[in-house]
Amino acid sequence: MEFSKLLEERRSIRDYESGVGISKEDVEKMIYAAQQAPSWKNSETGRYYVALSKEGIERVRRALPDFNAERTQNVAAYIVTSFKTKISGHNASGQPTDANADAWGAYDLGLQNENLLLKARELGYDTLIMGLRDENELKAVFNIPEDEAIMAVIAVGKRKSTPEKPQRKEISEIVKFI
Ligand SMILES: Cc1cc2nc3c(=O)[nH]c(=O)nc-3n(C[C@H](O)[C@H](O)[C@H](O)COP(=O)(O)O)c2cc1C
Repeated sequence: MEFSKLLEERRSIRDYESGVGISKEDVEKMIYAAQQAPSWKNSETGRYYVALSKEGIERVRRALPDFNAERTQNVAAYIVTSFKTKISGHNASGQPTDANADAWGAYDLGLQNENLLLKARELGYDTLIMGLRDENELKAVFNIPEDEAIMAVIAVGKRKSTPEKPQRKEISEIVKFI
């Protein structure tokens, strides 16, 4: 699919078709796309925990606040995303190289995750990034190590309908040229 069309078509979807599944292979294609993103010293600190089974999906759903659980009924998968801390934005002795510290790990993961969303769309799926979730419960569900920071849960399924595009700011509001 043409890149500009892909960019315009991707939407945060909060209403999914029932009875839609996704194969492990398609999820791996999405994660492969994520891996092609740049990262601090190519450190690739992003990690993915995927619930594909009915039981796994229910367990992740329980870690979501009610409104996010409602919005993602019928999804085919949940992908919990995290990154290994104290690597990106840190030197070899584990000291932060600037005030951003682990924000660089979150930056790298965000670059990866946008690739993942766009690949999902190219494969015919839709997504919702959820920042509101219970990270301790997710850590327990997947046995996620303590040295990882849990970031978004990404729901994956197929849209029932297309919402209107939320308005964006004018370019002039967000850029300064010199
Ligand atoms: C870091 C992050 C956290 C978000 N958390 C939630 C969430 O918890 N629940 C939700 O419904 N949408 C969530 N969203 C989706 C945003 O509301 C959405 O991306 C924004 O309104 C723009 O809409 P669009 O994605 O369709 O362009 C989140 C998005 C991001 C990037």
